[in-house]
Amino acid sequence: MSHSATSAASRGPREWSPEQAAEIELILTRYPTKKAAVMPLLWMAQDAWDWIDLDIMRLIGRTLELPPSHVHAVASFYTMFKKAPTNKYFFQVCHTLSCALVGAERILAHLEKRLELDEHGNSKDGLFSVLRVECLASCGSGPMAQMNEHFYERLTPEIIDEVIDALRSGKQLPEPRREADQWIFPVS
Ligand code: FES
Repeated sequence: MSHSATSAASRGPREWSPEQAAEIELILTRYPTKKAAVMPLLWMAQDAWDWIDLDIMRLIGRTLELPPSHVHAVASFYTMFKKAPTNKYFFQVCHTLSCALVGAERILAHLEKRLELDEHGNSKDGLFSVLRVECLASCGSGPMAQMNEHFYERLTPEIIDEVIDALRSGKQLPEPRREADQWIFPVS
């Protein structure tokens, strides 16, 4: 992933490489129907092109003999599939009820201020993107967020700052905290 949001035009043609085509053949042997392989192909496409656009949905549809609308429905349902470019460090912050009750908005507001986010959720320095998402399956330990493949639970603005500082300086990311004394409660 590049340091700045990747434009659609700069990503090259949406066609599978010979290596990807071979991988798809292998993937298809693991599923009872072509339709069942939509998610692995979405992952493969996201790895290759960083985010999923309509041309990629059409490509997957052609490959699996499905209408692009079906691929679009799957990609739209799961927030883990990016439908727009993001910067290098991508925070997905859960704002569903359990996390909302314990301070998700405070986390989002802190990210917005600290990173000077624009209206698309991209930071002024071109390094970060932030998206509010639905439940990420950590409802008992909110507020929580995913940063790329790392999960952070019982978040506080201080933990967010530690993560941002580590990313900016290239230092090791803080460990996710799970101790009971890290519970926080909403502030008015
Ligand atoms: S409500 Fe936030 S992880 Fe489920």
